[in-house]
Amino acid sequence: MPTRPLALVTGASSGIGTVFARALAARGYDLLLVARDGARLRVLAAELATTGASATPVVADLTTDAGLAVTEEAITRAGRLDLLVNNAGFGTKGQLVDSPLQLQDQMLRLHVIAVNRITCAALQPMKPARRGGIITVSSVASFINSTGNVNYCATKAYQRSFSEGLALECGPLGIRVQALCPGFTHTEFHQRMADDQQGRAPEWMWLSADDVVQSSLRQLEAGGATICIPGAQYKVAVFLARHLPLWVKGLMTRNVYKRD
Ligand SMILES: NC(=O)c1ccc[n+]([C@@H]2O[C@H](COP(=O)([O-])OP(=O)(O)OC[C@H]3O[C@@H](n4cnc5c(N)ncnc54)[C@H](OP(=O)(O)O)[C@@H]3O)[C@@H](O)[C@H]2O)c1
Repeated sequence: MPTRPLALVTGASSGIGTVFARALAARGYDLLLVARDGARLRVLAAELATTGASATPVVADLTTDAGLAVTEEAITRAGRLDLLVNNAGFGTKGQLVDSPLQLQDQMLRLHVIAVNRITCAALQPMKPARRGGIITVSSVASFINSTGNVNYCATKAYQRSFSEGLALECGPLGIRVQALCPGFTHTEFHQRMADDQQGRAPEWMWLSADDVVQSSLRQLEAGGATICIPGAQYKVAVFLARHLPLWVKGLMTRNVYKRD
């Protein structure tokens, strides 16, 4: 019997990560599900098993060396990997000067160090197989800077730039690389950071996690561009962010991301 392809999704316990896991199981993948909340991962694994997928929870805090080691070991033990989704992430509220240093440090670890470490682990089996895919969930925030989001925008820009560089190296190896750049998406993200964007941003700015994930997988499967921006409204916004003068962008982002 042919082996089912294997995908690893970080941040699989909630939001976009859970939707990726479900969409990949429906496409015939087995899964390694990574997050801190083991109970939620086990519930998801049981749900996916009913669709015929074998899903293994990997309980790991990816801001720690121990959590990264557990995740790297899961890839080494499998000895193969067809798709990596670097999705785990979080936002913070408030200006850098007032933000707890530890929280900002954790963001850098999760959005930068963990993405690099897990991607390098994933490349080990992908390179000799000469196939595979690596999706990193960046953000439209990677194209802007705004008050209250200094490290969020900076780390999301790292993820996008990392993916664009990696795509150049991986193309000749047969490995597809994508930086997925969603805008506001209905998940637990904004509740977790006690943000009020959920109530403040107009409805037309919101995406569903299903639409985000389907856009991403369709574009990857089609061998499309490295950057994936779901939703026409965000394609226009990113075009403007890349082409408008800095002072105009400043006015726009101050409005969207205004903090008290
Ligand atoms: N929602 C949006 O508006 C939006 C827009 C653009 C980009 N994004 C990006 O989309 C990605 C997914 O976010 P989401 O919207 O789906 O938010 P979410 O519902 O809050 O999910 C975040 C996931 O990340 C995991 N996670 C957080 N810290 C972790 C850690 N230290 N170690 C391991 N896992 C950790 C969480 O699991 P545990 O708590 O169980 O560890 C959870 O599964 C993030 O990278 C975010 O930056 C979101």
